Amino acid sequence: MNKTIGLEIKGCIFDMDGVIVDTAHYHYLSWRKLTADWSYQITPEANESLKGVSRMESLEIILELAGVTKSDSEKADLCAKKNEWYRESICAMTADDTLPGVLPFIEQLKSAGLKVALGSASKNAKHILALMGLTDLFDGLVDGNDLTRSKPDPQVFLLAAEAMELSPSHCLVIEDAAKGIEAASAAGMRSVGIGEVEYLHAADLVLPSTALLSWSMIQSHFLKNERTAS
Ligand code: BG6
Ligand code: MG
Repeated sequence: MNKTIGLEIKGCIFDMDGVIVDTAHYHYLSWRKLTADWSYQITPEANESLKGVSRMESLEIILELAGVTKSDSEKADLCAKKNEWYRESICAMTADDTLPGVLPFIEQLKSAGLKVALGSASKNAKHILALMGLTDLFDGLVDGNDLTRSKPDPQVFLLAAEAMELSPSHCLVIEDAAKGIEAASAAGMRSVGIGEVEYLHAADLVLPSTALLSWSMIQSHFLKNERTAS
């Protein structure tokens, strides 16, 4: 067990959708649009199970929930349509769309000498960062184009650690998806969940909003917990 997480954590890996920018909402709206004329409608609860999951796997989950069968070529068309709508909804994003507190938090991490990386399941993540002019903030970038396995598989975070040239045990993950928190644990990393404890209870710390992200607060939280545990 780490005794001094503040010193041991040398890099922070950010999920994109729902952590850096509120695109999780646009994924949801695009899936809803795709299923608008089906008898099944995606609920916010069902949407939680889509977070962190690749586009095709998300469609598979939706088809299963809806009890609908599609051929491989129909599935490819549905994914393409969903992505077209999604791309339309994010095309005008700028740095102003960064979720509250994220940029100041990244500045705090950098001032404290930590590295930062992107660890996203989305094939659009690098494109969105570029659109927002944020690419250069990151020491490592891993998105859906680099992956063969979806969260909760740890592949995305292990690649992000490698990109920062850090050992996984020195990395902290910031995530809004339960499957992302699971992936962080499987990678041997600490995690901070952004959202509701109901979904993110496996995280080491859960914050209701990115606005509350603070490196000094996270360090004291972990130090306090480790003192209590010892
Ligand atoms: C994840 C989102 O980050 O990326 C999922 O949480 C999304 O909702 C997945 O389906 C894949 O995104 P994209 O942009 O490749 O369709
Ligand atoms: Mg997310």
